[in-house]
Amino acid sequence: MKIPAKGMNPDTLMEMMETFKSRDLDWKSGRVFGFVYDPGREAMEVSKRAYMAFLTENGLDFTSFPSLLKLENDLISMAARHLGGDSDVVGNFSSGGTESIIMAVKAARDFAREHRPHIGQPELILPVTGHAAFHKAAHYLGVNLVAVDVNPATFKADPALVEQAITENTILIVASAPSYAHGVVDPIPQLAAIALKHGIPCHVDACVGGFMLPYFRRLGADFPDFDFTVQGVTSMSMDWHKYAYTAKGASMVLYRNRNLRKNQIFACAEWTGYSIVNTAVQSSKSGGPMAGAWATLHFIGDDGYLEIARNTWEATRQLVAGVEQIDGLRLMTRPDFCMFSFTSDEFSIFKLVDEMNGRGWYIQAQFAFAGSMENAHMSVGANNVGRISAFLKDLKESVAAVRDQPAGDLAAVVQAELAKMDLDNLGDKEIEEMMALVGMESGGSLPAKMADLNEILNAVPPRLKERLLVLYVNDAFSQDA
Ligand SMILES: Cc1ncc(COP(=O)(O)O)c(C=O)c1O
Repeated sequence: MKIPAKGMNPDTLMEMMETFKSRDLDWKSGRVFGFVYDPGREAMEVSKRAYMAFLTENGLDFTSFPSLLKLENDLISMAARHLGGDSDVVGNFSSGGTESIIMAVKAARDFAREHRPHIGQPELILPVTGHAAFHKAAHYLGVNLVAVDVNPATFKADPALVEQAITENTILIVASAPSYAHGVVDPIPQLAAIALKHGIPCHVDACVGGFMLPYFRRLGADFPDFDFTVQGVTSMSMDWHKYAYTAKGASMVLYRNRNLRKNQIFACAEWTGYSIVNTAVQSSKSGGPMAGAWATLHFIGDDGYLEIARNTWEATRQLVAGVEQIDGLRLMTRPDFCMFSFTSDEFSIFKLVDEMNGRGWYIQAQFAFAGSMENAHMSVGANNVGRISAFLKDLKESVAAVRDQPAGDLAAVVQAELAKMDLDNLGDKEIEEMMALVGMESGGSLPAKMADLNEILNAVPPRLKERLLVLYVNDAFSQDA
């Protein structure tokens, strides 16, 4: 495509763009359990208005746009109080969970550079259930990631294993509240106590859960303390754009005090242009996401969020109970949050995912890793609430439809083939040939029925899977693909 020779009529181009969505997930149906957090039409309108009102204001320089400083400081206060912080707690807005996590790792790394200069190669300790964003942060920031196993039954971090992994180079211990895959909250009081004892910062990744957990607690849910009320917790990440239902591009990273936060701020005066000082990765940035978040929080309010929490909690309870009653399905573990996962020991969970998604639902396939077998994940949100009995009815029928389908031997075939190969020395070309064989065609398309491909990917070692995904994406984004 070229830039059109003449500018187009806005109605025409909006119509064109709407057609691009034809194969997207239909999140408005309430049948999609993931990706989109929909607070309902009215709240969405408020969010859009606020977003548009600040679309063009530039967060590059808050002295030129003090309105953005005001919005951010309000959000910092709301987040800090929501998460049990005292008046020393500070933080910053960021574009998402990943950016918040990158900043928290950078702050811990640079804090260690200042206070523990003997550390040559910094390490962070992450339970295997911790989010991939920590791997990304470690990769970007030159920090070694030390992964530790979790309790195989509950999928919660094991404090003894975390303590054993500490070395004189450890700059950060990470815990999740909750972890994404299984929706469980780590034993944060024990983990933070270990961190405190060894003089190491402890980050709680509450990206997905931090906003709703306090409401679930008010409704009687039982899970460990996870926020700044726990001694030893030094930083936290919490996303607005997930369960606070704000427009995407909105997260928060918080620190127990300025002394630690200082290390996330970047300044540069060593070039010929304006001096830069950035709180996070982005430099020029729209005020839209921040304004959308501020407005949504004010529009829904504490009572509105409590109501959303009550409904999603009840919906999750019904779903979990429904899954438990279906013969052949098994919960991975009991969740602490409105997210959970289940599997089957009797038939291919990937076939079940295909069957459900073919019926217009969206549930997410998760691959086996570190003692967590392949499973189906669900994130339950406000717009799924009216759909629970229809979902469970279809789930029961789908189990009946797939349970007698032959299991297939794809995984065994792949493993046998891989065993013959020197995986460490595979060239890109050989990997591309493998991809073509399994239906990962060029141009970003995937087979409509994903079960076979998922079986294969599930059998591929993680490092090879990563290379394969990089090549697939490298191909998907290209001119007019
Ligand atoms: C626990 C947890 N941490 C971090 C992230 C990363 O957030 P984002 O996708 O906004 O970068 C997620 C996303 O699902 C998450 O569930």
